[in-house]
Amino acid sequence: MSNINQDDLSSFPIGVFDSGMGGLTVLSALMDRLPHENMLYLGDTARLPYGTKSPGTVSRYALQAAAKLVERKVKMLVIACNTATASALDDLRKAWPDLPIFGVVGPGAQAACTTTRNGSIAVIATESTIRGGAYQRAIKEINPDAAVTGHACSLFVPLTEEGWMDGPIVEAVARRYLGALFDCDGAALEPMDDGQHGGNRKCLVPDCLVLGCTHFPPLAPTIRKVLGNEVAIVDSAATTAGAVENELARLGLLNSQSGPGEAHFMTTDDEARFARIGSLFLGRELSPRQVELVNL
Ligand code: DGL
Repeated sequence: MSNINQDDLSSFPIGVFDSGMGGLTVLSALMDRLPHENMLYLGDTARLPYGTKSPGTVSRYALQAAAKLVERKVKMLVIACNTATASALDDLRKAWPDLPIFGVVGPGAQAACTTTRNGSIAVIATESTIRGGAYQRAIKEINPDAAVTGHACSLFVPLTEEGWMDGPIVEAVARRYLGALFDCDGAALEPMDDGQHGGNRKCLVPDCLVLGCTHFPPLAPTIRKVLGNEVAIVDSAATTAGAVENELARLGLLNSQSGPGEAHFMTTDDEARFARIGSLFLGRELSPRQVELVNL
């Protein structure tokens, strides 16, 4: 990008990608926070889910997705996928050392640490994110005294990709998953294993639940119904958007155009489906005409 001047560069889009539609929850926060920015989104729906795959495979997929966005010329990259952030952030930064690249795990951990009052934090995410321990590490880096319990909720991904955000089946799945972390039946809450000391140390029941997968925010009303009002529910979307804004301002790359920014969408499978289900994640109407089918 060395022979491109700063004014041209500032009008380039912010590139955002995820395994599917989940990253649209992050894109929505970016569009709210940065209405003058152009956005280019890629959902790798043909290869979803990432969350049950090995770190090596996820990293390879993430490098290919990022390469597609870089080829279209973006001024910044947002990995709007916790699984890809956990497995591939370092690889992507190595591949494009001059491009500002943001992941969502750090901002999610930040949101949790500023929200919890008792220092006990629960994280729900994909199997891969939980297994790799990225959230646990990111939270401990900010608050070494925090107790972090993680639980994989893999089924939430296909449910939301199917457009099932609520209803009795989603609620039953949520109840079963969250029952491992919280008492969902209104009985007294007992201290629980902190998951880090071989079952020998108890920590307070979490007062904060991190939705550590970008597919989960549309389920927040169902999760709230299951958990009641005592537990704060946080995700990384707003914190990521704030961090992106600060970095663009620091680099002098905020788009100076006065009109609204434009958003363009790419998917690796079925534009019509992407538009239909994507509208639910984005909270804005998407037409198949705005969606381009691409190959990685
Ligand atoms: N949305 C992705 C995340 O935040 C994962 C979904 C998947 O398993 O592909 O982790």
